[in-house]
Amino acid sequence: MFYLWRRSQVPVKQPIKISRIDNLIIFLVCILISIISSYKLLLISPLNVEDIFSWLLTFTEILISSGILILVSKKENPTISSRQIFLIITLLLAAQATKLALASTISPLSIIIPPALIISQGMGSITALTWVSIASFSWPDPTVDINNNLFFIILVCSSVVSLLGGRIRSRAQLLQLSIFVPIGSFLSQWILIGRDKITLIDNQDFVLANGNIVSDSFLLAVVMLFTILFIPIFESIFGLLTKARLLELADKEKPLIRRLSLEAPGTFEHTLLICGLAEEATRMIGGDIDLIKTGALYHDVGKLHAPNWFIENQDGLRNPHDELDDPIKSAEVLQAHVDEGLKFARKNRLPKLIANFIPEHQGTLKMGYFFQKAKEKNHDINEYYFRYKGPIPQSKETAILMLADGCEAALRAMNINATDKEALQTISNIIYSRQKDGQLKNSNLSYGEIFLIKRAFLNVWRRIRHRRIQYPTSKNNTFS
Ligand SMILES: [Fe+2]
Ligand SMILES: [Fe+2]
Repeated sequence: MFYLWRRSQVPVKQPIKISRIDNLIIFLVCILISIISSYKLLLISPLNVEDIFSWLLTFTEILISSGILILVSKKENPTISSRQIFLIITLLLAAQATKLALASTISPLSIIIPPALIISQGMGSITALTWVSIASFSWPDPTVDINNNLFFIILVCSSVVSLLGGRIRSRAQLLQLSIFVPIGSFLSQWILIGRDKITLIDNQDFVLANGNIVSDSFLLAVVMLFTILFIPIFESIFGLLTKARLLELADKEKPLIRRLSLEAPGTFEHTLLICGLAEEATRMIGGDIDLIKTGALYHDVGKLHAPNWFIENQDGLRNPHDELDDPIKSAEVLQAHVDEGLKFARKNRLPKLIANFIPEHQGTLKMGYFFQKAKEKNHDINEYYFRYKGPIPQSKETAILMLADGCEAALRAMNINATDKEALQTISNIIYSRQKDGQLKNSNLSYGEIFLIKRAFLNVWRRIRHRRIQYPTSKNNTFS
């Protein structure tokens, strides 16, 4: 019973596709990290069997740790790309190389905390925490002995950055973090390590001012500020999608969204309603709300290529499809809203995770109305011409958007006096038809989650109905 319940609730994740060459490059970088982190153990003379054994142990340990880091990042981000995995392990490689070359001149805080900020912003807190634990525990130079208190401060500060970095939603908060973390590190070093001249790494002169905690903390603040400056560059090179970037894209004053509201007002209204439905459903199942809100905003931008060909933008008098009177051509116009949408996405440099909403919200759905019209003319017409080209939703968020897209028009058109039961029946029918059509099979939505999505849509419908109820107003309180 337990097995069946778990299978229904936690579907098997779709394995991400990484090419063999990328896998090979990633593996080679992991080997390089292991070599850099352990080769100094072989330089001890005279070398005995114990030393070789301890080198082999360290080498294997770092290699396995790198593998675990990649697995954790894949688990936290099912849609992670090879470029992003490459970024995580390259940052680890850079940290290990910096420790080797500059351990006696740069504070370990400045080596570990800034990459943790980049990883937590782009890949999430758990990946960042894993990265931090590997980077903090492995020191390539055996002669460098980290002060225990400093080690504790590194762990605390980098964990705070990893945890907060994954949640931060604006660049201003990032700036605050880059000021408060160095101040915190300064105070903790001052309290735990000492107030006078201290060597932070035993046996060695340390940092620009010989282990001075003020210059250490100042250096950390400068490196963190530079990291924040470079985060947008990392976003575009590695396709990272930070919360701050998502919120920037969700700004309704963005030129593409402004164009949608002016040139296709019906589509814009439809988009706003879908945002509400999708957001509520995503909140219910614990998905990425910022991602779906932004994805929903851009899902139908392709309709800008011919707004009048879509029913929501027609004034009810003229329908170009009637004048065309060719169902296959009409189906091509509908498919074009996906193809043109992807072109708009490329032109406006939308991140891939957002662009994915454009084809996946339509999946391979059948354009039922035009298919029926074509069938009236030619009974043997192939269904293929009347299906969107896909792909079907590959994530929970794009699947929710497909369901919201399907339910929006039906809910809007529902009678104001319809009961909750009728609304839920309509929602269930639409969702079931998509399930039966195989549109949700790659989305990882469990039965439990689909149940919650139906409930969420019903809640939004209740809100819509409430808004549509006219309040009685007397002449006197019109302006109150
Ligand atoms: Fe669409
Ligand atoms: Fe839509």
